[in-house]
Amino acid sequence: MSIMVKTEKKVTLIIDGQKITVPDTITILEAAQKAGIRIPTLCYHPALAAIGSCRICIVEIEGVDRPATACNTEALEGMKVTTRSERLFDLRREVIKMILAHHPLNCSPCPENGDCELQDLAYEYDLAAMDFNDYHIQTEGFPWKPFSTPILDYHPRRCILCGRCVKVCSEIRGLGAITMSGSGAKAVIQPVMADEQTPSLCISCGECMRVCPVNAIEETMGGIKGKPWETKRVQTTCGYCGVGCQLDLNVVNNQVVGVTTRDDVGVNKGRLCSKGRFGYTFIHSEDRLRRPLVRNEEGKLEETTWTRALMKVAREFKRIKKEHGPDSLGGLSSARCTNEENYLFQRLIRQVFGTNNVDHCARL
Ligand code: FES
Repeated sequence: MSIMVKTEKKVTLIIDGQKITVPDTITILEAAQKAGIRIPTLCYHPALAAIGSCRICIVEIEGVDRPATACNTEALEGMKVTTRSERLFDLRREVIKMILAHHPLNCSPCPENGDCELQDLAYEYDLAAMDFNDYHIQTEGFPWKPFSTPILDYHPRRCILCGRCVKVCSEIRGLGAITMSGSGAKAVIQPVMADEQTPSLCISCGECMRVCPVNAIEETMGGIKGKPWETKRVQTTCGYCGVGCQLDLNVVNNQVVGVTTRDDVGVNKGRLCSKGRFGYTFIHSEDRLRRPLVRNEEGKLEETTWTRALMKVAREFKRIKKEHGPDSLGGLSSARCTNEENYLFQRLIRQVFGTNNVDHCARL
């Protein structure tokens, strides 16, 4: 019996004088990245199919008159590609100028000041506010409008209409809760709603906010977020379910002020649900139970040690079992636990308590 082995076809091309052999299914941008050659991008995101809207990633291909966008042009056998030239620098600079003619360059009030892909490009291409006198784009006034969820606010003046948010919502979340509407200086991202009465399709996951390169989508929760350079990012595991998603708690002055993720970390690869991304305000809540409490003789809650509290719980379980039988007890476990913890929990209820009254609530 013969076994069919699918072999990957390869192509060899030259990028900036470097000979590179790559699978025939990838783009010029991906081929360059594999060879450690940086091509600037803005609308491109590694988790999404190429959008090709910003044109920052243009490169020159020998034999082709007009520059091509590297993020959505296939790497072909024998291609000779140039990623850096005076012409490309000038063209990219013009593209960034056009974007900045709409996007205000007063970065100081923006929480992403210092951690913004557009700001980095403006710096790299040596652009300042006075470079925009050539353009007379009539920027639209945008009255505030609710976004797809009250957790998020959309800033149309900051938005560069790269399309990442729309793409992530349809491609990764499979929802299509937001769309691009209008054209030119009037174009905006807006929720998809058939009419005022129809609820938004949005599930408040915040993926659109995560992939936005310029902070045009911002969370409305919490107060001061802290500037990137004063924010400590502490990697941890989300505690809301047993999946084990990785996230970074953003800490400023010992206060958790937000949650961010990294595209290459953990099983979630940057993605989170709404609980993982926005469910952090309980950390500093006044109502949070921080110490064990037991009721005294008068029925008032008093602070105690964990040992005393657990001994009291064990005593009471034993008393109830003795007086009313094992089936008067039951256990409700949590989605926050791992499989192993849930397994141990049901063993405790079945073998120690002596009852099959054991269940699990995914929303705990
Ligand atoms: Fe290629 Fe935007 S990164 S067109």
